[in-house]
Amino acid sequence: MGARVTVVDISDAGGTETVRLIEETTQKREKDAQAQAQADDAHAAEAGKAGGGKTPRAIFVKCDVARPGQLAQAFAAHVNTFKRLDVVVNNAGIANEVNFAQPESEEASPASPDLTELKEVGGPPLVRAEVDARPWSRMIDVNLKAVVDGVRLAVECMAATPARSKEEEEEEKEEKEEGAKIGEEEKKSRAKRVIINVASIAGLVAHPTLPVYSATKAGVVMLSRCLAHLESELGIRVCAFCPSAMDTPLARSIGPALVKAIADFGGYLPVEKAVEGMMKLITDEGNGGSVMKVNPREGCSYVTFDDHILPR
Ligand SMILES: NC(=O)c1ccc[n+]([C@@H]2O[C@H](COP(=O)([O-])OP(=O)(O)OC[C@H]3O[C@@H](n4cnc5c(N)ncnc54)[C@H](O)[C@@H]3O)[C@@H](O)[C@H]2O)c1
Repeated sequence: MGARVTVVDISDAGGTETVRLIEETTQKREKDAQAQAQADDAHAAEAGKAGGGKTPRAIFVKCDVARPGQLAQAFAAHVNTFKRLDVVVNNAGIANEVNFAQPESEEASPASPDLTELKEVGGPPLVRAEVDARPWSRMIDVNLKAVVDGVRLAVECMAATPARSKEEEEEEKEEKEEGAKIGEEEKKSRAKRVIINVASIAGLVAHPTLPVYSATKAGVVMLSRCLAHLESELGIRVCAFCPSAMDTPLARSIGPALVKAIADFGGYLPVEKAVEGMMKLITDEGNGGSVMKVNPREGCSYVTFDDHILPR
């Protein structure tokens, strides 16, 4: 209920629509809480607090995550506005696959819409030579390199900002003194800091028509596993999230190559199921370095690996 969100996207339309949806949902929940409070005087003061406040619930920062300077500015915008950072979801992804059986097809592939947008993003105009125009190379930049940058920036910002606001610490102290019991919802909102890297089932299961996409996602899985130690060292959990195919523009851009894989997992994964898995990763404790998979047939579960993590 109390979350403040920065939406980071290369797309103006997608980013502003997401912020609008967050505002709409939270306003509705606040109204419901106020109505509840009127029926229950004991909660009136609390509900009043939730509704006021000048800080927005959500802001949008237009950013190409594959440009480290822009990504750093997006993190700075969040910290300047909200003063703390508890949850980061590195979610941006694209699928510009290579057909290894037809190497010449790359020349013929149309310019990625993503690259076209790149020129519209603020900052100095890009010189052609600065951009590696190979679509698959751009996919590595967005799906893997930007996740590395996203984790590094998240750790830096989390370490530099207080985990809880002074008011919350005071509240918690008072609650303890009064012997008050914290509700389950409240406990969840106080869960320790977490970075979720969105990988894919393609990062766990070899998908012959998506070799480079799968390689980027396998990279995200391994990156997250290797960072398990950040939980004991810094109190930051880093996890990877591996959903099966969902009906989104990215999946549709892959086309027929995905159809067989979708059938294999029991159809498209409903977005609500993906959200459920993501929320479990965020609220579970002690899961730093873990990998969660979710598909329509089996639901969500933590992945167990045959190998082991080497000592640091
Ligand atoms: N749809 C699926 O079947 C599926 C399955 C498993 C994992 N995933 C992963 O889930 C994540 C979200 O994908 P989706 O299916 O919702 O796709 P989507 O195309 O609906 O959303 C991707 C979002 O990333 C943004 N984006 C793309 N390039 C960007 C860049 N350079 N900088 C900033 N933002 C950028 C797009 O504007 C878009 O809002 C991706 O990492 C994807 O690989 C998707």
